[in-house]
Amino acid sequence: MNARRLFPYAIFALLIMPAALTAQYPVRDGSVTNIEPYLFAAADFGIDAEGVTFAKDIAPILQRSCQNCHRVGGGAPMALTTYQDARRYATRIRDRTAIRDRMGAMPPYYVEPGIGIQRFKNDHPLSDQELATIQAWVDNGAPEGDPSDMPPPLDFPDDVGWTLGEPDLVLRSVDMTMPAVGPDRWGDIGFVPTGLTGDRYVESVEVREVNDIPTDREATTVGGRYIFHHMTYSSGVLNEDGSGLVQGTTQGWPIHEVGRNADIFGDGVGMLLQENSALSLRASHLHANGWRETTAHLEFGFKFFQEGYEPKYRRSGGSGGNGIDIDVRPNQAAQEFHSYRVLTEHTKITAFEPHLHAPGVRMCLEAIWGINRFMLNCVGYDHNWVKQYLYEDDAAPLLPKGTILHTIGFLDTRPENPNLADTRNWAGGGRRSVSSMFIDLGQSARLTEEQFQAEMAVRRANMKDKNEYDIGCPLCWAPQIEENATTQGGAP
Ligand code: HEC
Repeated sequence: MNARRLFPYAIFALLIMPAALTAQYPVRDGSVTNIEPYLFAAADFGIDAEGVTFAKDIAPILQRSCQNCHRVGGGAPMALTTYQDARRYATRIRDRTAIRDRMGAMPPYYVEPGIGIQRFKNDHPLSDQELATIQAWVDNGAPEGDPSDMPPPLDFPDDVGWTLGEPDLVLRSVDMTMPAVGPDRWGDIGFVPTGLTGDRYVESVEVREVNDIPTDREATTVGGRYIFHHMTYSSGVLNEDGSGLVQGTTQGWPIHEVGRNADIFGDGVGMLLQENSALSLRASHLHANGWRETTAHLEFGFKFFQEGYEPKYRRSGGSGGNGIDIDVRPNQAAQEFHSYRVLTEHTKITAFEPHLHAPGVRMCLEAIWGINRFMLNCVGYDHNWVKQYLYEDDAAPLLPKGTILHTIGFLDTRPENPNLADTRNWAGGGRRSVSSMFIDLGQSARLTEEQFQAEMAVRRANMKDKNEYDIGCPLCWAPQIEENATTQGGAP
């Protein structure tokens, strides 16, 4: 084919290409400036707007989905426990909930509802019905209603509490004191011996900061409640004089960051804390909170599997991404970044954790298998929050080896993105906050052929027939190949 005959095709390809790309990964604004398209009509949900009141309809939603943070002493800047509190913030409550998966959304849970897997542990997004109810209430003047309809107030313990319940082992860091105002502090804050006299596998870990900031007053910012920004830590067996960890015994744990949820490693995937081990609190980042000198320590709460437990699967990390050689242009919306990784073993993805920096607005994870592409999830991103999405055990993607994991980061460097310090600068990859990255800090398990087949059999048993489809399980309904047929190249 000569160049002249190719020409019309090239023009055609150029014309449809941008449209095709936009269709696949619709461009979304970093932060929503027009709320209208996000609002529902009460009538579509059978809601009689006149009848919606705080006491009867709104308080129960706030109790379930908001007050664990929005109460005096909670992590959020204002309480939403009384009618007066909620009345004052009514419009903002409507707007922040309506944008559901966009930057700034409340509650901070950004999984896009229209695409991919929707079943996650410990997360309860508001339903369309609830959003429409909140909107009807606000549009109708946010009335209180009959106080006797109010549900009894929730009782929150004074203690910070453990979201996963009382741990089996709590380890405590040294106390650190930061002045009210001053430069940040980075560095090693030492070892914490576990005191374990036998190996134990950890089912979940949760880290919390305990400090002397009064909890009976509202801090005006989240940063005002804490001094530990983050902590990267590892564990290993202590050497004889307790001055270090024995080489080859160490492993890294999921990072602690302000607001980050607890880590549940999932059924069959434990992390080991050895006999005579210690945590090494290598890389802390502390900051002054701007209003008072504060002394704080971190507590690491471990829940164990029963003694003698051996994990069924080998643990593995997230799907990939890129934190090194990316090129982020200043003042530009909808910058897309792509990375690809081929799975060398059958894999069950147990958690998705998009990690971007301030320009980040969204991340998608796609599985490419054979000639098919499966969008596993798209989630919004707000650099004020670090969220890990833990798949329900029977909804976690089950991917055959050879699958290509495609991670897509979406960055917005315009002034509309309120998280950016300066929209005029070019940025490359790197660890500083002013540098960029798009990586998945998630978790996965590597499965043997036998384990993979067994997991798929469970999935199939949960489905009615082949017409039911599991987006994360591309081979669930693939024809079974007899064992001796695989040697003839039947199986991938
Ligand atoms: C996990 C903790 C958490 C949960 C759950 C949560 N919030 Fe928030 N909320 C925060 C924090 C922290 C901030 C301040 C930082 C920010 O804006 O992202 C905030 C900010 C807000 C704001 C903006 C306040 C302002 O001054 O503009 C509103 C409104 C709000 N939340 C409403 C809600 C509602 C309504 C719910 C439940 C449907 C909810 N939040 C659930 C922690 C939470």
